[in-house]
Formats: sequence, C-alpha cells, structure tokens
Amino acid sequence: MRVLVIGNGAREHALCWKLRQSPLLTELYCAPGNPGIAAVADRVPIAPEEVQRLADFATEMRIDLTVVGPELPLTLGIADEFAGRGLPIFGPTQRAAEIEGSKVFSKLFMDRHKIPTAPFAVVHDAAAALSEARRFGLPVVLKADGLAAGKGVLIATTQDELAEAARALFEERRFGASADRVVVEAFLPGDEVSFMALCDGERVLPLATARDYKRIGDGDTGPNTGGMGAHSPSGGLSAETAAEVVETVMRPAVAGLAAEGRPFVGVLYAGLMLTPEGPRVLEFNARFGDPEAQVLLMRLEDDLLPLLAAGAAGRFDARRLSFRREAAAGVVLASPGYPGRPLTGEPIRGLDRAGAIEGVEIFHAGTTVEGGELVSAGGRVLSVCALAPDLRGALERAYAAVGEVDWPGKVYRHDIGRRLLDPDQGGVTGP
Ligand code: AMP
Ligand code: GLY
Repeated sequence: MRVLVIGNGAREHALCWKLRQSPLLTELYCAPGNPGIAAVADRVPIAPEEVQRLADFATEMRIDLTVVGPELPLTLGIADEFAGRGLPIFGPTQRAAEIEGSKVFSKLFMDRHKIPTAPFAVVHDAAAALSEARRFGLPVVLKADGLAAGKGVLIATTQDELAEAARALFEERRFGASADRVVVEAFLPGDEVSFMALCDGERVLPLATARDYKRIGDGDTGPNTGGMGAHSPSGGLSAETAAEVVETVMRPAVAGLAAEGRPFVGVLYAGLMLTPEGPRVLEFNARFGDPEAQVLLMRLEDDLLPLLAAGAAGRFDARRLSFRREAAAGVVLASPGYPGRPLTGEPIRGLDRAGAIEGVEIFHAGTTVEGGELVSAGGRVLSVCALAPDLRGALERAYAAVGEVDWPGKVYRHDIGRRLLDPDQGGVTGP
C-alpha cells in the first residue's frame, strides 16, 4: 500500500516509524515531515493546512491511505476534501472534528449524550462569565470556544484571577474570535489521564492508557505546553475504570456523533479527570495526543496499517488491539524559552549514542539540517522514548538516552513518571 502521513512532529515520526514496519507497506510519504522522518519516509514539501495540494498529491501518487496527525487540517476539512475525491483517509470530517474544534459544541454534545463532564455554562460576555463563575465557586475554569493553540483554558483560583481571565477573553480579546463564546465550568480536582480509541465511524478500538505531563516545569509547575513527556500505562487507571470509560465515554461519543450525522473516523481522544465521583471528560481531541502517541505506538503489537485502512473504509475487522506488557516512557527535549518564544538553531549531537541504548527510539519534532548538521528548529525538538519490562526501566532507559543527547540548551522535565514510582502511590499497574 502507498501511504501518506500528514504532519511534522514527533507524533507523525512515531506513526511513520510504526507504519514502516508493516509488510503491507510499499511506499511511505510524509508531508512535510522532518529530518528524523526522512529516515523512514519520503518527505513531501506541502504544509498540513494546504488541503487542496495534499489532495492533488494523493490523487497523482495514487495514495491508498492518508493518515492525519495534527488537528488543523482536520478542522479545515481535509477528510471531506479527500472523501469527495474518493481518496481513503483516516481522520474525522470537519463536522466530526468539531468535538475538538469547538469547546461549546463538545460540552453541549456531552450534555445531550449524558457523557460525564464538569458542570458548565456557555457565556458571551464578561458579566455573564462572572455571574456563572459565582455559581460554581472558586477555583473556576474559563475556556475559549475555538482552537487557541492549547492556550485558551484559564483556571482562576482567586476573584482577581477570575476578573483578569474575563478581561483577557472578552475585553483584550487575547484569543480573538475563538473567544466569542466561552465555556465557564466547575474546577475538577483529581488525577489526569489520556484515553484514546481508534474509531471507524461506528466501532471503537480502545488503545492502552497513557498520561502526559503538560506543564513545563518539574512538579507540574509553570505554564502549560503541548506535552513534556508521557508514559503508558498511565498508572492510576485500573482495567475496570478503563472499561467504564469505554462504556460511559467512548462508545456514547462515537454513537452520538453518528446519530447526529457526524460519524467519527479517526482517533478519538478523551482527556479525563479521575475524580472521587468517577472519570469526567475535560476535553475531546480528534487525533492522537502528542507525546502520548509515541509511547502508545511503541507498545502496540498489531500492524497499524491494516487497522487504519479498515477504519478509513468504515469497517474494522479486529475486535480489539494488542499491546505489549512492557511499559513505554518518553521525555520531550524542548528549546530554551519554550513554551514562549523558543531559541533555535542550536546544534544537536549524540543521537546515535542515545538511540543505541536498548529499547530506545528517538522521534524528531522541531529539528532541521543546516550545513550538514542537525539543529533545533522549534519549541518541542525531540521525544526520547524507551520500552522496558516496567515503567521504572522505561524511564531509566529514556533518561539515560536524554543524558547522551549532546545539546547544552535542552530543556526537559526530570520527573516524568516519578510520582508513580513511589510505592505509596500504589505503583504502576493497569492497561
Ligand atoms: P483542556 O484543553 O480542556 O484539556 O484544558 C487544558 C488543561 O486545563 C487540562 O489538561 C487540565 O489540566 C485543565 N483543566 C481543564 N478543565 C478543567 C477542569 N474543569 N477542572 C480542572 N482542570 C481543568
Ligand atoms: N498531549 C496532549 C495533546 O496532544 O493535546
């Protein structure tokens, strides 16, 4: 099969790495890819948002399956464009991707289908935001409706922060039109995990559990990022709770979207808060999480290619997915300054040594080649991942590899998974 992957991050590198192992694969292209991806796929110089050009390329190259990594092309309707031209694609239509693209749609949808989530209200101005927030008490969460590069969620713990958040959203218009409508919701305390499933419009194949670490700093301090590390299993989510999530969240979501004429083909991602009252959905995404995809794909035993092809055709044959018993962990190396303006152009060496450590895979994100040398070129630069018999071993291998990466500027978290290794936390078990 001739396959095209869209995107240029470590998630897409992991997708290409996994697809490359398929005996069914004949050609693999990635648009636009990165230097790491170039080792396993042919790069195509088309940006993910150039939907028409991507469809032209897929037509011309007789691509049998296109796999979409990031959300932007999905919300721009790439799946609709491909479907209109008879090109198989694994990714939701624009209307199905609204579950990620609009927080207002997503919350009202959960309400209609009784999917457990935080109590909320939808508001259009600062006064209404303040009065609804009063109803929920502090802390309270304000969310811009539209995609805001992951920055449109504001958590206010004091009256001053609440007033400041309402001002930022409605008066300063810091998030532009994406904050024309705002969700005000109750703050849920608890432990956060990621839960994903492959979907064919009707059926749901749950992936193993994963956890990402969103804050930049050790001990969950500092600003939110795209994700600074991940591991699978997640810890904290038992097999019973995972099964409950499939029944109370994933199946109702896919059935609800189908019933509303928005069948969902692709990866449905639920960000969950494990509260004392049970799991609650914080958000849905319409794609693989990054860096969760890297660790999940390292644990996936099945051939990914026929699975995604069957999903794109609207008909999974498999009843369930198989995952290795081993654990996988990943540490993201970022540029100094991230998640603000990253300092780039720094040489990165030592990847051969780091990658030679048993169980280690290094996935590229923001890298480029300048004058024959690999240099940093973005915020998140590398995902250094490892597989081992247990989480402790996977983290040891990943951190050993991080130590071999010769890049003085590398910024990373030193505590990925650490809290879960503390025996008082009950260790790491589960799916
Ligand atoms: P979201 O983009 O909706 O996932 O929000 C980004 C982050 O904000 C989440 O990963 C949570 O850490 C946090 N968050 C969002 N909603 C809530 C909530 N209702 N209660 C507590 N934390 C939340
Ligand atoms: N790691 C969270 C996300 O990809 O949105």
